[in-house]
Amino acid sequence: MTLEMWGISKSFGANDVLKQIDFSVKGGEITALLGENGAGKSTLMNILGGVLPADSGSIFLDGKPVQFRSPADSLAAGIAFIHQELNLVNDLAVYENMFIGRELKKKAGWLDAKTMCEKCSAIFERMDIRLDPRTMVRDLDASYKQIVEIARALLMEASLIIMDEPTTSLTDPEIQRVFDMMRTLQKQGVAIVFISHKLKEVLEICTRYTVLRDGVVVAEGQTADTSVDELARHMVGHEVRTESLRTQRELGNEILSASMLSQGERFQNISFSVRSGEILGFTGLLGDGRSELFQTVFGSGGKYSGEIRVSGEAVQIHSTRKAMSLGIGYVPRNRKENGIIADMNILENGSIVTWPRNKKACFLDWKKLRAGFAGQVEGLRIKMDSEKNPIGSLSGGNQQKVVLAKWLGADPKVLIFDNPTQGVDVGAKEDIYDIILGLAAQGVAIIVLSSEAQEIIRLCDRTLVMYHGRVQGELQGEKMTEQEIMRLATGGEMRTGEAV
Ligand SMILES: Nc1ncnc2c1ncn2[C@@H]1O[C@H](COP(=O)(O)OP(=O)(O)OP(=O)(O)O)[C@@H](O)[C@H]1O
Ligand SMILES: [Mg+2]
Repeated sequence: MTLEMWGISKSFGANDVLKQIDFSVKGGEITALLGENGAGKSTLMNILGGVLPADSGSIFLDGKPVQFRSPADSLAAGIAFIHQELNLVNDLAVYENMFIGRELKKKAGWLDAKTMCEKCSAIFERMDIRLDPRTMVRDLDASYKQIVEIARALLMEASLIIMDEPTTSLTDPEIQRVFDMMRTLQKQGVAIVFISHKLKEVLEICTRYTVLRDGVVVAEGQTADTSVDELARHMVGHEVRTESLRTQRELGNEILSASMLSQGERFQNISFSVRSGEILGFTGLLGDGRSELFQTVFGSGGKYSGEIRVSGEAVQIHSTRKAMSLGIGYVPRNRKENGIIADMNILENGSIVTWPRNKKACFLDWKKLRAGFAGQVEGLRIKMDSEKNPIGSLSGGNQQKVVLAKWLGADPKVLIFDNPTQGVDVGAKEDIYDIILGLAAQGVAIIVLSSEAQEIIRLCDRTLVMYHGRVQGELQGEKMTEQEIMRLATGGEMRTGEAV
C-alpha cells in the first residue's frame, strides 16, 4: 500500500501549524515523523486518522483520493492509530478495550469474551508480556496502558499503523520487544509511521524520516544516511549538545532521607539520603517500585513502615499537603493522569501549587500569578497562544513543561521528578536539564526517577538501581554506564569493590 498526503494545511486560529505539507509512506517501510514539541506531528497524524479535518490538501490511498471524516473512516481504510495521549476506557477490562467497536459475538448474539481473551493473550504472549486480559484498565500503570494500545493496533491487522510516541513509558527490554513486532509487521508489508523524540530509537527502527519545523518539511531521507546529531539539528535548527552535564557542586546538608521504608509487595527496605545541591537518580525496569516509593514519600501512596527524615527530623507523611508543607515537591509521571487538570486553562494549571501563597484577602492575586507564570513560560520556552486556552490545546511536550512550571513556582527544598522529559523534544530536554542543574546549584535537593539510562548518566551525581521493589545497587560518577545500570536493573549483583 502507499499513502500520500499532499499540500496539507491546518491552522488553529492565528497559529498556522501545517503549511502545505507533503508526506507519504509505503508498505514495508517504517517512517519517522520528527520535529520539536508543537511542530505539528500529532496534528498531521490526527488529520490522517480522521480525528481532525484539514483546512486544505488531499489524501490518496494507493493512488485513489480518500476522505476521512471520522476515526471510523480511517480505521475502515486499514489505518490503526496509537495515540500520544492514551486512549483507553478506564472502566473496561483490557480485552474489552482491545475489541471496542469490533466485539466478537457468538451465534446467539452474546459477546464471546472467551475468544476475545484468548486472542488478546496470544498477542501478549508474542510480545512476551504477562498481562491478564480481564484486568481493568484503571488498575494498569502507564507503561502497561501503552502496551495495550500497541497490542490493540496489532490486533486490528491494519495496513498502516500510526504510532505517536508509543515508547515514552516503556523501558529498554519492552521497547526491544515492540521493535521486534514492528519488524515482523514491516516484513509483512505493513506501513508504519513512528513518532518519537528518542533519536537513537529512530535510527534503530526506522527506514525513512521526515522532519517538520515551522510548519514545513525541512528534511527527509533514508535513516541509513543520517545521524542523531544531524536529526537533532534539523529539528531545532541549530547544534544540540549531548555531553555529560555532571558538574562539581558544593553539597550542603542532608535534606531528605529514608531508612528501611517498606510497603507490602510494592517496595521493601529502601534506604537513601539526598543532600542540598545533589542530584540523585533512581532507575530500573517496569514494575521496579520506584514510582510507588516516591508517591509514598510525597504522601499519596498510603501507609508505610520505616522512617522518613526531612532536614534530620523524623516526620510522618500521610498526605500530599503534609509533604508540601515540609518543602517536598513532586513532578509526576504521566501528565494526563496525574499532572494536569483538564478543565483548567494553561495559567491555572501552571500556577495552582502557588495559590496558597498568592492570596490577597480571600482572593487569588491573579496579577502576581500571571507575572510568575510568564517568567516560567519564558524560561521553559513554552509554546502557546494564550495562557487562557485549555491545557489540552498544547502539544504533549508543552503540557509537560506547564507541569514543570507549576512546581518550579512552589520553591521546594527537595524536588522529585518522575520521568521529567517524557515526550519532550531534544532541545526542550536540554532546557529542562539546565533548569534541574540550576535548581541544584541553588541548593535544592533533586531526585530524578527515569527509565532512560542516558538521562541518569548525563544528569545525576549518583543513582540507585531498583529491582522488584528493592535497591539492587548504587552507582556513582564514571561507574554509571548503560551496561552496569542494565545489569543491576535485571537483577545482577553489585560487583565487589564497586560499592560506593
Ligand atoms: N485542538 C487544538 N486547539 C488549538 N491549538 C492546537 C490544538 N491541537 C494542537 N494545537 C497546536 O498546534 C501545534 C502543533 O501541535 P501538535 O500536537 O501537532 O504538536 P506535536 O508536533 O505533536 O508536538 P509534541 O512533540 O509535543 O507532541 C501546537 O502549537 C499546538 O498548541
Ligand atoms: Mg504530539
